[in-house]
Amino acid sequence: MFDTVTPGTRTKLRSAVDWRMKVLVLFGTRPEAIKLAPVIHELRKKFFQTIVVSSSQHKQLLAPFLASLNIDIDFDLGVMRRNQTLNGVCSKVMAKLDSILASEQPDLILVQGDTTTTLAGALAGFNRQIPVGHVEAGLRSGNLLSPYPEEMNRRLVSQIASLHFAATQKNRRNLLAEDVPSEKVFVTGNPVVDALKHMLKNLKVSPQINELIKATEGRKRILLTTHRRESFGPALASNLMVIGDFVEKRKNVCLFFPVHPNPNVKNIAKKILGKRERIHLLDPLDYSDFLAIMKSAWLILSDSGGVQEEAPSLGKPLLILRENTERPEAIRSGVAKLVGPGPGSLKQFLEENYAVDTWIKSVKEIGNPFGDGKSAVRIVRIIEEKLATKPMIARADQGTLF
Ligand code: UD1
Ligand code: UDP
Repeated sequence: MFDTVTPGTRTKLRSAVDWRMKVLVLFGTRPEAIKLAPVIHELRKKFFQTIVVSSSQHKQLLAPFLASLNIDIDFDLGVMRRNQTLNGVCSKVMAKLDSILASEQPDLILVQGDTTTTLAGALAGFNRQIPVGHVEAGLRSGNLLSPYPEEMNRRLVSQIASLHFAATQKNRRNLLAEDVPSEKVFVTGNPVVDALKHMLKNLKVSPQINELIKATEGRKRILLTTHRRESFGPALASNLMVIGDFVEKRKNVCLFFPVHPNPNVKNIAKKILGKRERIHLLDPLDYSDFLAIMKSAWLILSDSGGVQEEAPSLGKPLLILRENTERPEAIRSGVAKLVGPGPGSLKQFLEENYAVDTWIKSVKEIGNPFGDGKSAVRIVRIIEEKLATKPMIARADQGTLF
């Protein structure tokens, strides 16, 4: 678990030392919480006053993470609805966050990645002329519709942010190519690696998952996660059919599929893969359970961004179920392969790698290209320097903005 300065300790510290600037940290989905947790804890260690806001864009997915990541929330915007729309989430987050920005007047807003919460938070900050720091800046797939809407979200946030925390040199180059001033871009690594390392030190695996791992000993375990909006409908259905048929035909293979609660995923998963032998449809797993299953996997199939960043640390082969990736570093490292469009391609990948598993066996734990576990320290050091030395924005009433 993360060390943290607990709220009680904070109150004592408040009287003992001068509190530094106020940083509002906003998240709303599972991956944002995982990636921002190390930064929140580091900010607190360095005595920043933190205001932690959850949009609760995710409700059930987020809840198990807050406890295990040791995060306490100051404000919960509670925006999630079943089958929510992008505009519904965006407008609610902006409106509800605005009153918090008005009353709390933070010196900086920190957002992460490319979700609707991220975009709404950055725009709300801009409208109130509060500087925005963007963690995981500079990812680009090159296709505005894939991943949808994330590629547009992150491009828009790059227009707004005053501090860009890029995970890799490639991410930095992407930003410079779009004329983001180089003095605002910092290569810090991705704090997902910090979170992963912390968690791996103290995995608390549930009896249910322990049991499942034991019961499937000797089988080739495939771990599947899939939830991207651009694949909903026929693409998702045909991928699930290919995977189901592949497992069914091979008695030494089994599938673990923690199913995303999105009805567009859940319903089709149940319909195509429900009640089939050696196929385990699971509820979303907490971080410890998920990492335990990742570690036990023979092969991972996923369209998740975070999983691409975690696979190198665990040395697990990953087939990326997408047409493109904004994380080519995972492919270059040899850990991941891009499946590309069409069910034929996935079928071929699965059959070839089952027949000759040279690549699968060759994948080993490697230096993670996305980070070294010290990203949060770097991010907070930069925030400290920037906030201490000069205001990051010139106000509109002074002639220039940002
Ligand atoms: C969002 C992010 C995506 C990220 C993903 C992680 C955007 C635009 N996309 O996906 O980048 O990879 O989260 O999971 O922000 N639901 C629940 N309970 C939950 C969470 C979701 O029931 O705890 C259901 C709801 O019906 C909801 C649907 O899942 O409408 C989709 O959730 P949403 O937050 O809209 O996810 P995405 O936008 O698909
Ligand atoms: N994850 C988890 N339990 C699950 C599925 C995923 O803990 O059942 C973790 C995973 O390790 C990674 C993150 O959630 O850190 C990825 O979240 P998701 O795939 O929802 O979003 P993305 O990374 O694609 O934005």
